Amino acid sequence: MNLTEFQWDNKYATGILNIDAQHQYLFALTNRLLRNTAENASMPIIAVTLAQLDDYVKEHFDLEEQMLREAGYAELAEHIAQHQSLKKRLHEYGQRLLNESLSPIDFARFMQMWLSKHILQSDMKYLPVVKSCK
Ligand SMILES: [Fe+2]
Repeated sequence: MNLTEFQWDNKYATGILNIDAQHQYLFALTNRLLRNTAENASMPIIAVTLAQLDDYVKEHFDLEEQMLREAGYAELAEHIAQHQSLKKRLHEYGQRLLNESLSPIDFARFMQMWLSKHILQSDMKYLPVVKSCK
């Protein structure tokens, strides 16, 4: 069983303080799920973590999309589509987690991979546009 926690690394830093703080919190919530598993937490506890993650993902995406809208980001629609796709998968995987057809570890691994790839590839792409507006 691999319980590797998500470690923040400078390569994930966008330099936009609130975005980095929110990304770090998403890492922390994903790690919380791994800790719940390591501590053999009951399903209601895992459900609370899942709900926190779900809420925070929405809050973060809304803020990021608003920032990109204000910056006039040309690839906004594509970026929003990626966010929508994760929200849909989070919902689907969340249901599977709750009915125990998906393990919290597999769920957390999916989140780690998605977040890492999205930050490094898609979020880094909007930086020049957002920073030129500040
Ligand atoms: Fe994003």
